[in-house]
Amino acid sequence: MARFLRILGIETSCDETAAAVVERAADGVPTVRSDVVLSQLEEHSAYGGVVPEIAARAHVEALDTLIDEALKRANVSLSDIDAIAATSGPGLIGGLLVGLMTGKAIAKASGKPLYAVNHLEGHALTARLTDGLAFPYLMLLVSGGHTQLILVRGVGQYERWGTTIDDALGEAFDKTAKLLSLPYPGGPAVEQAAKNGNANRFDFPRPLVGEAKLNFSFSGLKTAVRQAATEIAPLTDQDVADICASFQRAVSRTLKDRIGRGLERFKAAYPQVDGGPALVVAGGVAANLEIRSTLQALCDKYGFRFVAPPLRLCTDNAVMIAWAGLERMATGVEPDDLDVQPRSRWPLDAGAEALLGFGKRGAKA
Ligand code: KG4
Ligand code: ZN
Repeated sequence: MARFLRILGIETSCDETAAAVVERAADGVPTVRSDVVLSQLEEHSAYGGVVPEIAARAHVEALDTLIDEALKRANVSLSDIDAIAATSGPGLIGGLLVGLMTGKAIAKASGKPLYAVNHLEGHALTARLTDGLAFPYLMLLVSGGHTQLILVRGVGQYERWGTTIDDALGEAFDKTAKLLSLPYPGGPAVEQAAKNGNANRFDFPRPLVGEAKLNFSFSGLKTAVRQAATEIAPLTDQDVADICASFQRAVSRTLKDRIGRGLERFKAAYPQVDGGPALVVAGGVAANLEIRSTLQALCDKYGFRFVAPPLRLCTDNAVMIAWAGLERMATGVEPDDLDVQPRSRWPLDAGAEALLGFGKRGAKA
């Protein structure tokens, strides 16, 4: 398709309400015309996690205004838009309904095509927008809702090489923080506390290390943290710091093993790749400096390029949803019918086996 395209993107799958206008030139070069994100962090922080009903209601309240704002900042009106892309899964069903129904209504009223986008596809294709990455590449998504290692072969062509069999990594950080009475979201709090800690004090488990399958598991680690904290209670600040540092070390060691195997497997499958092999990281946990340096060191060891898009585009946003829509449109993928339904579960790789507990996120204990 040799034409300039412009899409309005809508994202409401979890606790960020977002709208964006993104363009793609005929040669594939992107321009982000606007990028509006409203985080619901405050609404959920008192509960130590995302509360689905609160999230859905907050999306309803904010989305119209946010879409107006995205159009205004992009200096365009709806008639200047070629299509609408709305996240239709996976995620919390209430939020998905709000975003997808809004997208459908705009599509219906304006006569523009609708792309119902898989949220994970948004994360998977972001590195093409930010770094112009060529296919194939490996993507590690580590957020509050997902922990997946995905082979990105092309638009619409994904293989899930690994996923969590219980908690997502961000969730493990959040739960660890909660049981140490640190604030939500737990990731930044645990990382901060770990700076003053002794990572060798506790020998926490490194789940699934050595397994040939590339899955992840973090609930045992969380249990080990709880046991350690209970045994030495009441906790001093130093105890908390030592637990956080030891937890982070165990996570890094686990990732080193799992991702290291993934890089080896990629090299065996694709000995020659345009521009060299690359590992992309996405999701809020990608902000963690120890995890970043672990991934960077692995990439150096195996000769991979380490691509970490700016955090704003690594975490949930509507730019990535618009971009996924643009990539599909440019590849000639037909738009979706207006009767398309949201899906709380929607693996990118339809052939991947269903695993209990993957990517379920909510205000659980
Ligand atoms: O991608 P994201 O912003 O949102 C969703 O998951 O929807 O990721 C948020 C997750 C939270 O679990 C948070 O604790 C974690 O990312 N996180 C971190 C850090 N910053 C955020 N985890 C570890 N270290 C961090 N510095
Ligand atoms: Zn996400």
